[in-house]
Amino acid sequence: MKHSRRMAGIKCVLFLVVLTFQWTFVRGNTEVSCVYMENCTLPCSYEGADVVIHWHQVSAGNLPVHSFFHNQDQPENSAQRFRGRASTFKDQISRGNASVLLTGVKVQDEGRYKCYTSTTNGNKESFINLKIDAPIHKVDFERVENGITCRSEGIYPKPELTWSTSPPSSLTFKNTTTVQQTEQQLYNISSYLILSGSDHDLNFSCAISTRRNRKSVTLLKMSSQDVLEHENTIPCRPSNIQLSNLIWRFNNKEVILNGTVTNYTVSEKWKQHVKKLSESGSLTLQDISADQEGTYTCEVSDAEETTISLRPLRTHKGFSGAIIKAILRWVIKAIVFAAAAGCFMLCKKMCRRRK
Ligand SMILES: *[C@@H]1O[C@H](CO)[C@@H](O)[C@H](O)[C@H]1NC(C)=O
Ligand SMILES: *[C@@H]1O[C@H](CO)[C@@H](O)[C@H](O)[C@H]1NC(C)=O
Ligand SMILES: *[C@@H]1O[C@H](CO)[C@@H](O)[C@H](O)[C@H]1NC(C)=O
Ligand SMILES: *[C@@H]1O[C@H](CO)[C@@H](O)[C@H](O)[C@H]1NC(C)=O
Ligand SMILES: *[C@@H]1O[C@H](CO)[C@@H](O)[C@H](O)[C@H]1NC(C)=O
Ligand SMILES: *[C@@H]1O[C@H](CO)[C@@H](O)[C@H](O)[C@H]1NC(C)=O
Ligand SMILES: *[C@@H]1O[C@H](CO)[C@@H](O)[C@H](O)[C@H]1NC(C)=O
Repeated sequence: MKHSRRMAGIKCVLFLVVLTFQWTFVRGNTEVSCVYMENCTLPCSYEGADVVIHWHQVSAGNLPVHSFFHNQDQPENSAQRFRGRASTFKDQISRGNASVLLTGVKVQDEGRYKCYTSTTNGNKESFINLKIDAPIHKVDFERVENGITCRSEGIYPKPELTWSTSPPSSLTFKNTTTVQQTEQQLYNISSYLILSGSDHDLNFSCAISTRRNRKSVTLLKMSSQDVLEHENTIPCRPSNIQLSNLIWRFNNKEVILNGTVTNYTVSEKWKQHVKKLSESGSLTLQDISADQEGTYTCEVSDAEETTISLRPLRTHKGFSGAIIKAILRWVIKAIVFAAAAGCFMLCKKMCRRRK
């Protein structure tokens, strides 16, 4: 008897759990994704007249977001964080649209929201799950003393960073990745890869990813460098280049040209040096001198990936090298002269002694 009563009790509880689950499920958990600092609409609708609307962020302790009643917005009812940032669509309300617009969304706005409406037809609640994304805008890389650094800033949610090589190698990457969170709860990520001399024949990639997007930087084989001629063609790593945005830079900063292979603009300073841009993205430079010695990067981006190939360009006869060689030649000449002079003196002395 006791046993079956308990069973009935358990069944009853289970039934309630299932019911509650289905109830919340049926009433919707609409997913909305918005981009950090952009405007964001949380959808909600109602039927009936004389509407009262209350929006709350339930995941933040039922924080009042926005209210509408007496046929107007009631901004003084909003919590501090939403004050001046939340509004309804005035012209849409009479059409049963209770959506709320949040301007400049922040990471703290992420979470679960409730839209409560009350009309002559009755009350209604619906739920929205809001996700905020601060996508990866730019991956900065730098070739440093004996390695490469890779970093990106202002990302949400927490990004991941991976290093890889092509061709694949058995190199093990020491984890030097650090992640920091800013006051706005965004993430800064950076990593440092130490290279040994023998690694220089590989292509290195650093990829940073988050649920919204992924960007990678690929460093083409670094030991290859072109020697500066009067005219040079610098290749660009091909990857869907026809549709991609292309930026050629000098010494990682100065923009040489920007656009696509069919429609691009050359910066004023480089107009005299840019001869042509080929369909594959390679850049032909003309009238070049030692001033154009440096690193050329070709940055190809589509929606998901940015691939940067880096190409050092060196003057024909390394200028400083030539000076060093000249000095060395003089030093050697001086030593030989000194040695000869010494010999001569010694010889003279010995000859005198013999006499
Ligand atoms: C965001 O909404 C505000 C208020 O409606 C408007 O003034 C602003 O232009 C909107 N910004 C964008 C990028 O749509
Ligand atoms: C409410 O109106 C806004 C602004 O016109 C629109 O973006 C949104 O889709 C509408 N929502 C509903 C549920 O009708
Ligand atoms: C590397 O270190 C970072 C920060 O200390 C950590 O978040 C990450 O999970 C680590 N990655 C691996 C693969 O161990
Ligand atoms: C994150 O990066 C930004 C931009 O460089 C910088 O201003 C900020 O201080 C960094 N924050 C942290 C916690 O490292
Ligand atoms: C580096 O990448 C380029 C382009 O993908 C490829 O042609 C080249 O063979 C690679 N270099 C090495 C050493 O793997
Ligand atoms: C390249 O051109 C695009 C579109 O004209 C522009 O938005 C972007 O800021 C430019 N990038 C650089 C680095 O100049
Ligand atoms: C070329 O690019 C510029 C700037 O991005 C743009 O304004 C222009 O419409 C483009 N022209 C063509 C023919 O696509």
